[in-house]
Amino acid sequence: MATTEVIDLVALGEDFVRDPYPVYAALRERGPVHRVRIPEGAEAWLVVGYEAGRAALVDPALSKQWKNASPSFPLSSPAAGPHMLNQDPPDHGRLRKLVVREFTARRIGQLAPRVAQITDELLDSMTALPDGRADLVDALSFPLPISVICELLGVPMLDRTAFRDWTATVLTDPDPRAREAATHEVTAYLADLVERKRLKPGQDLMSGLIRTTDEDGDRLSQEELLGTAWLLLVAGHETTVNLISNGVLALLTHPDQMELLRADMTLMPNAVEEMLRYDGPVETPTYRFTTGPVEIGGTVIPGDGQLVLVALADADHDPARFPDPGRFDIRRPAGGHVAFGHGIHYCLGAPLARLEARIAIGALLDRCPRLTLDAHPAALAWREGMLIRGPQRLPVRWTS
Ligand code: HEM
Repeated sequence: MATTEVIDLVALGEDFVRDPYPVYAALRERGPVHRVRIPEGAEAWLVVGYEAGRAALVDPALSKQWKNASPSFPLSSPAAGPHMLNQDPPDHGRLRKLVVREFTARRIGQLAPRVAQITDELLDSMTALPDGRADLVDALSFPLPISVICELLGVPMLDRTAFRDWTATVLTDPDPRAREAATHEVTAYLADLVERKRLKPGQDLMSGLIRTTDEDGDRLSQEELLGTAWLLLVAGHETTVNLISNGVLALLTHPDQMELLRADMTLMPNAVEEMLRYDGPVETPTYRFTTGPVEIGGTVIPGDGQLVLVALADADHDPARFPDPGRFDIRRPAGGHVAFGHGIHYCLGAPLARLEARIAIGALLDRCPRLTLDAHPAALAWREGMLIRGPQRLPVRWTS
């Protein structure tokens, strides 16, 4: 049976932020749908479990458009313009198709040597630190994805610190005015970038997106270009940062798995899938709003713009799909996880994220044969909010 009482997830405090899995599992025992109050300051219907989660992600009555939110919904859209992740069919398909023309496997494959080179440079700086200690978020997890996405989009001189603050503010600041101001700043930055690319196009993705036209002569409008650039920048780094951090943390807290991987690096691709399943970067994906009644496991969610959140973190810890889900096992068949979502909004950047994680974690293990966590795992501070999951800092130490 699902509950109708509103469960205040905020009241669960730090414990829930650090380890939400037991809370989701307890809810799942009671049913797949629950009314919750979320840290972002809204009430939502939370869907837990693997089958229920996947069904919700493909339910056509759940809209990604903020205009379908109930008039009393207290939050505003963080986007700089329309993009595929805040649109429904047919607009979603139109926008995705135009971007896919440029965001090709070939373009991603060509990035591999650059990803390796940037990783090496970052690890050169990290391993040159005199006392053999660093915050891995600062040294590798954050700078690698932002450098790669800038390289991909053709942003040579992005002020990375400012950009880090903007996206963090837009995604997690509780103050709506702060979120709005940051969105405004990113939009102005991107508008300037588009203008520069129009005047002086290059081989980069942004120039490609400006140029691209499909068989029917369709192309991205200025607003859609801004929205898409914004989506790629945010989706392309906030998530990958935490795949690297959460993945390395899982290895450091499971020395037997670390040893297994070091002994046989061909296990890396599956290890990365298990990292995504075990502690993925997206705890609950972006907002969906009901446009008609939605029935899940006997509960009917009213169709008047209610917010529905799918707990991806719980879907990937559902014992009905992944036996002994709390065990980190780099040899388990981890395929079928929903860390990249499911359905029409399945992550466009999954191949790039996998490429970056495999290269970064492989190089880190190679360069630091004796790498350990330099803090008690329970003392780590985690990112606020329910969208992104990852440690704020990851202190590590190594000896050569
Ligand atoms: C480990 C890293 C990543 C994770 C875990 C991840 C996860 C996700 C998830 C869960 C969704 C679906 C959201 C929803 O349905 O509400 C999504 C969509 C998307 N992701 Fe990723 N992502 C990652 C990296 C990337 C990268 C590197 C890029 C691009 C450079 C990217 C671009 C996108 C785009 C464009 C969408 C929207 C797709 C659509 O609406 O059709 N992501 N991602």
